Amino acid sequence: MFSWGEKKMINTKKKLLVVPLILALVVVAMSLSGCTQKPANKIIVGTSADFPPFEFTDANGAIVGFDVELITKILTDQGYTVEVQDIGFDSLIPALQTGKIDVIAAAMTITDERKGQLDFSDPYYDANQAVLVKIGSDVNIMTEDDLANYIIGAQTGTTGWGWVNDTLVATGTLNSDNFSSYDLYTDAVADLIVGPSRVGAIVIDSPVAKAFADMGYVKIVLNITTNESYGFGVLKGNSELQTKINEGLTAVMATSYWEDLVTKYFAS
Ligand code: ARG
Repeated sequence: MFSWGEKKMINTKKKLLVVPLILALVVVAMSLSGCTQKPANKIIVGTSADFPPFEFTDANGAIVGFDVELITKILTDQGYTVEVQDIGFDSLIPALQTGKIDVIAAAMTITDERKGQLDFSDPYYDANQAVLVKIGSDVNIMTEDDLANYIIGAQTGTTGWGWVNDTLVATGTLNSDNFSSYDLYTDAVADLIVGPSRVGAIVIDSPVAKAFADMGYVKIVLNITTNESYGFGVLKGNSELQTKINEGLTAVMATSYWEDLVTKYFAS
């Protein structure tokens, strides 16, 4: 049994403990919910590092590539610090919309549909689609219709995926069972190299098809003209960041940095 005096002392001690405990809980909750304050000049760039030479991981596991270097240069020139995060392509727009990332740099084609979801920078690179097959396989593709005879792969959420879906699957040319969707194009190419029982051909952006072909085992057998242009994505209405990226892009394109970067990643 405590006397009154002792009880009071214990209660006060308890109260003294409660305040730091609440503070600690708030800190834990904030960091768990991602609400910790990010420095105002820090930009988180989201990419999908399965798309050489625009974004890929080097031998040390670092995220590198044309887009990664270009956006880092543009933003650091504008006084920002940059962190690059590797997120699956199909998750990039949701990540932008929920504030997990500030910029998408992922060879993302500027399309009317996407313009309803985000704002784009000025275009910085043009591309079409291409068809990749395994070298030495008996896959024989000379026309778009020939694609109907094989399992066709593409990355979910991409314009290449959309082309296969709209042009081949929706028209009944390709059985939907023979359309294989991948989270990562690197996995699609790995399956292509395994053989046609896994996937017979991949529809993918033409400069990236060339990069994979340059690495060996696969080759381009068909070009599909889609007239695409890549832009960096920002949250809809973030005209401040959009303008800064556009100004930075124009400035960079006017210097030898641009030619050097193009040579570095597209020289072969
Ligand atoms: N340009 C295509 C698109 O916007 C493919 C982009 C895929 N990018 C990537 N990093 N995997 O849909």
